Amino acid sequence: MQRLYPTPAADLDPDAIYDDLRDQLPKPPAGRPYTMLNMVTSVDGKAAVRGKAAPLGSDLDHRLMRAIRAANDAVLNGAGTLRAEGIDSRVGAAWGARRAARGLPAQPLTAVVTRAGDLPLDRGWFRHEGIERVVLAGAGLAADPDRHAALAARARVILAPTPEPEPAWIARTLREACGVRYLLVEGGPHLNGALIAAGLVDEICWTLAPKIAGGGERLTLVEGPALPGLPPLALASAYLHEDELFLRYRFAGPRAAG
Ligand SMILES: NC(=O)c1ccc[n+]([C@@H]2O[C@H](COP(=O)([O-])OP(=O)(O)OC[C@H]3O[C@@H](n4cnc5c(N)ncnc54)[C@H](OP(=O)(O)O)[C@@H]3O)[C@@H](O)[C@H]2O)c1
Repeated sequence: MQRLYPTPAADLDPDAIYDDLRDQLPKPPAGRPYTMLNMVTSVDGKAAVRGKAAPLGSDLDHRLMRAIRAANDAVLNGAGTLRAEGIDSRVGAAWGARRAARGLPAQPLTAVVTRAGDLPLDRGWFRHEGIERVVLAGAGLAADPDRHAALAARARVILAPTPEPEPAWIARTLREACGVRYLLVEGGPHLNGALIAAGLVDEICWTLAPKIAGGGERLTLVEGPALPGLPPLALASAYLHEDELFLRYRFAGPRAAG
């Protein structure tokens, strides 16, 4: 593993590059968590291959996903990702022990955001042990007591005041109701787009996988409505391992208000 930026270095332990990530993060802003995205894309910018992200990243990418989760208090996904491929936000025993040693819960909280709560209850996400689950749902879920009860039996359900959970509400609720100071968003692209458009993302961890997904694939890192302007990014770090790039970009300059 080489570090290309900020200070070039060679022969690094690839599994250790994000060991001190939490210590590098700035203080969270008032009223919301400091928020990072972590996504992998192909060289042609695609975020999924036949509906799944896993084939894009290497084994190292999958291990570093855990390291990035371990630096955060919560992992958030859109319901589309849970429906498409399932979610397991757990960091494993070794990271759990390191988190516990610094006074954090062994596992980060795991949260899913949905409008109507149409979630696949048979997924492992609803059964994983030792991890706190939160469903952030649109107000309309209250009109479906059976679905609401089924979700509430498996997760803490928090209802938004609006039919679609607004990005600012999501961020504020995770901070104030769930105590999340550092939030990792692991997609998908539509949730990413909503949060970026609202100016609620502070940085992006982006794995550039040395693969081409091809024209049959549509999803990129960010989907949804057009963004206001072209939010500028500043490179925070760049690592290279076996043709795969592990990049962190911070949002620079003013962004749209949420
Ligand atoms: N490359 C990567 O790193 C990566 C990471 C994650 C996912 N993925 C891929 O991304 C795909 C899924 O992504 P996606 O974009 O279709 O879905 P998504 O962003 O995971 O979820 C979108 C869903 O989130 C819910 N939602 C609630 N409030 C929202 C808001 N304010 N804005 C946006 N969404 C809101 C809605 O759920 P309801 O429909 O329930 O209302 C909406 O349909 C999968 O193919 C997966 O493999 C790739």
